[in-house]
Amino acid sequence: MTQAYTPFADDSYAGRTVLITGAASGMGLETARAFAAKGAEVVMADRDEAGLERYGSELRKGGAKIHTVKVDVSNPESIAEAFAYCDAHLARLDNVVTCAAIITAKRLFEQDWAHWQRVLNVNLLGTFFTVQAGVKRMLENPAGGNIVCVASDAGVHGGGGLIADTAYAASKAATLSLVKSVARELAGKKVRINALNPGPTDSPMHAHIDPSLKERIAANLPVRRMGRPEDMAAAILFLCSDAASFVYGAALDVDGGSMFR
Ligand SMILES: NC(=O)c1ccc[n+]([C@@H]2O[C@H](COP(=O)([O-])OP(=O)(O)OC[C@H]3O[C@@H](n4cnc5c(N)ncnc54)[C@H](O)[C@@H]3O)[C@@H](O)[C@H]2O)c1
Repeated sequence: MTQAYTPFADDSYAGRTVLITGAASGMGLETARAFAAKGAEVVMADRDEAGLERYGSELRKGGAKIHTVKVDVSNPESIAEAFAYCDAHLARLDNVVTCAAIITAKRLFEQDWAHWQRVLNVNLLGTFFTVQAGVKRMLENPAGGNIVCVASDAGVHGGGGLIADTAYAASKAATLSLVKSVARELAGKKVRINALNPGPTDSPMHAHIDPSLKERIAANLPVRRMGRPEDMAAAILFLCSDAASFVYGAALDVDGGSMFR
């Protein structure tokens, strides 16, 4: 009898690899920890070299197989270099998770052209060209692969400038759309792509939010707490696992009920 695949076993990602952008903080870091805890070989990519150094060595001390790569996802050459590193150091690339993003909270008339370019370059172009490079490797891999793009509930219900602004929300709505489009184009291939829609999550990204506002946000959510990076990491691991083999081109809301419908 063949051994049943147990997606939540301690070693369920043993022998598999993952590249995570935005891995030096918040959800990306927690996702790196979660993959490493399940036995994966992890490439942590971020523009924050000090964070990579700190958390990469912390995870290595725990016995995990960790690579760290400096990347600026708003620069296509930098993305190409990060993937060249993967080509040189990994047997193959099984999973790509795009967490790298910046949040901005400007009012309507404070947002100029340069602001929009900055936000779209990181959040949208950075995500698209990371996905493109990942898909290219996965199509060459007979086992295929999985991609998860972290979008946002703001991409669904908008941002009013207090916590997130129009440029940020639009970049995340476009991320949801790019996932659908790439999924359409990859139909019939062995590469799955899905989006994750986090709700308000207590990570360093929200350092600009006053604690009393965080309390109000939590109180307004049906589950009465903000999300934790661990909540998102667990969902990302699920989306990359064979347990999610029928989840395709989807957007998974992990939001404490902020968007339930
Ligand atoms: N925190 C929330 O409430 C929330 C809600 C919905 C969606 N999200 C999304 O979740 C993802 C992770 O957010 P987080 O809360 O962990 O944020 P975070 O700020 O803790 O982490 C983001 C990471 O991205 C990196 N990064 C930023 N620009 C980069 C660039 N140009 N190149 C490479 N790396 C870059 C940062 O250095 C940082 O390590 C983001 O896509 C964010 O938009 C967050």
